[in-house]
Amino acid sequence: MGRRVGILTGGGDAPGLNAVIRAFVKHGVGNLGLDVVGVCDAFNGLIEVPHRVMPMDLPSCRGLLQLGGTILGTTNRGDPFAYGPDKVDQTGALVAGMRDLDLEGLVCIGGEGTQGIALRLMETCGVPVVGVPKTIDNDLDATDLTFGFQSAVDVATDALDRLHTTAESHDRVMVLEVMGRDAGHIALSAGLSGGADVILVPEIPWTVEGVAAKILARRAIGRSFSLIVVAEGAAPADEQGRALPTEARKALLRRAGGAGALVMQSIAQQVDAEVRLTVLGHLQRGGSPVAFDRLLATRFGVQAAELVAAGGWGRMVRLSGRDVGSVDLREAVARYRGVDADGELVRVARSVGISFGG
Ligand code: F6P
Repeated sequence: MGRRVGILTGGGDAPGLNAVIRAFVKHGVGNLGLDVVGVCDAFNGLIEVPHRVMPMDLPSCRGLLQLGGTILGTTNRGDPFAYGPDKVDQTGALVAGMRDLDLEGLVCIGGEGTQGIALRLMETCGVPVVGVPKTIDNDLDATDLTFGFQSAVDVATDALDRLHTTAESHDRVMVLEVMGRDAGHIALSAGLSGGADVILVPEIPWTVEGVAAKILARRAIGRSFSLIVVAEGAAPADEQGRALPTEARKALLRRAGGAGALVMQSIAQQVDAEVRLTVLGHLQRGGSPVAFDRLLATRFGVQAAELVAAGGWGRMVRLSGRDVGSVDLREAVARYRGVDADGELVRVARSVGISFGG
């Protein structure tokens, strides 16, 4: 029997998770002599007794490359340090589960939350871990890109293309709300790719006057419709024109029934226009990964298998420039990346006439 390791997926799903699992098993089991056990529903499958796991051999990977979601299941309510409704520390049960199953270490595919838990497990319980970054939000600074992001951007871009024709036919203002509680990368990339007139992101507070000015400027040149893409965490500026503190921003959006609803209500009060809202929600996370994400996920899975085979515990796989490699997990979880308000993409957007509502 080879060295036995567990693989799990944590947090929200993202297109490409199954492609990572497939590549990890194909390379790890097929070429590197690993024995792989899939752990169900993030860390829960190890904590619960009987354990919920599935042995992963080469035939079990068939058909996974293009399959959305995760065959292992996932949850964002399975923190072993604060488990269940009573938030009990279940790390002892997790370590016992690993011992029962004879697992040398864990490969944790997940976002900020999952990687933070993996690091804590390593530092406080001595659990050997390798991280694989995942989030459609693309907000982990340690990797240039995460898989799932491009698929989400494609869905949002397609939605903008569809809204474009109906907006133009009816002379309407169409508001599209996309995911991104804290980071506006999906809104920015999809807005650029789908020809939005206004892009609203959490990192750049907007004003209703700013948004209205763009709609009216378009009317003045005979363009009587407008497309606005708004990230779910984008909020207006305070009275001094500054960004609201995070909690106040979230409370305001909750009260309004969401960022898209707030934009729609504000515009309707300011401009004489028919305004319609589409909230894209989880359509951005479901379904097949696009080719770019299948490729990135496959590269990440192979790199994770090589790290495990080489005993490279405590590291997270990443894309840096053109190369897939790895970074110390401590460094990886410490840095978050939002949209850079002075960055190249924002400048490109402004250069082609897109307003950020300021
Ligand atoms: O972090 C990924 C993400 O899709 C965010 O963009 C979004 O705000 C959140 O997860 C939604 O989470 P849930 O699926 O738990 O509603």
